[in-house]
Amino acid sequence: SIQSFSYPVGTTIDRFIGQRQTEHPTAKGELSQLLRDIVLASKIISREINRAGLSGIDGMTEEENFHGEKQRMLDVIADVRFTSALIKGEQVCAILSEEREGIIDTGHPEAKYIVIIDPLDGSSNIDVNISVGTIFSVYRRISKPGEAFTMEDFLQAGTAQVAAGYILYGASTMLVYTTGDGVNGFTYEPSLGEYFLSHPKITQPESGDYYSINENQRESFPDQVKTYLSSCKKDNLNTRYVGSLVCDFHRNLLKGGIYLYPSSEQYQDGKLRLLYECNALAMIAEQASGSSIDGSQPILRIQPEWHHQRVPFFTGSSNMIKDLLGFST
Ligand code: AHG
Ligand code: MN
Ligand code: MN
Ligand code: MN
Repeated sequence: SIQSFSYPVGTTIDRFIGQRQTEHPTAKGELSQLLRDIVLASKIISREINRAGLSGIDGMTEEENFHGEKQRMLDVIADVRFTSALIKGEQVCAILSEEREGIIDTGHPEAKYIVIIDPLDGSSNIDVNISVGTIFSVYRRISKPGEAFTMEDFLQAGTAQVAAGYILYGASTMLVYTTGDGVNGFTYEPSLGEYFLSHPKITQPESGDYYSINENQRESFPDQVKTYLSSCKKDNLNTRYVGSLVCDFHRNLLKGGIYLYPSSEQYQDGKLRLLYECNALAMIAEQASGSSIDGSQPILRIQPEWHHQRVPFFTGSSNMIKDLLGFST
């Protein structure tokens, strides 16, 4: 029918954010503006990633970040784009980024929010044209607006997140976020420069056919994980592992599945970072009826001790996480 030829125009993300704001009559629009700033930066990065192989920015820099990872050019570019957008937007007083050791002062002491960001997730995949992402968390600061921010503002448990989301630069660019009222996904239409609501009210299936893990450290995984992996094999589940957390998470969110990054001899506390990666995805999972644990307790309940803290991370369909918990000793 003619319908199938019509243009898929619907709710833009801008309109969606505006509608959500009117549902909160006391809201002053600061969070809405902050989200729009992230949206804008994501469009710039999406374009840069699309051309990375041509513009020569898919390579390495000479630098290492605090986590001991060689920085790619796009790690640095994404870091600069997101932090500049947030600084110019004036809604956050300070930012923490995976690519920087310390807190970034935005010069807006009156702002009441802080942001924690993994500007480019999965960056080891960038030079082979495999999908990557961005992960972000928004918190209300604990210190009083107008006063100096402190590290305490950043060491809040994940339950305190006001908003969390990710951008997936895949076959299409998608932005998925929550403000604690369900999860919604938007797909980017590059020629229009707009995100459209494509995945309203995402819920994660209660179980699924996929498990995602890098097994190279299997010998030193905790018994709980070894037993769980055997059960996956017995149940004939399929392995899917991109090596970009955002992508592995997104597939399991939509199709049902579990993602595991346990502790091992190489990574005593797991590899993934509680503040930059796990908390945001844990909030999205819970808002979509999935769950996220560190092996025994919910990720969101962990009281962070320092900002670069790593944590074993298991996230996915609620029944699969329940099964994993059942194997704890
Ligand atoms: P980042 O690129 O932000 O440093 O994150 C890398 C993370 C994550 O994206 C991915 O799932 C994981 O590292 C992959 O680790 P392995 O290579 O050990 O599987
Ligand atoms: Mn990194
Ligand atoms: Mn990452
Ligand atoms: Mn990163």
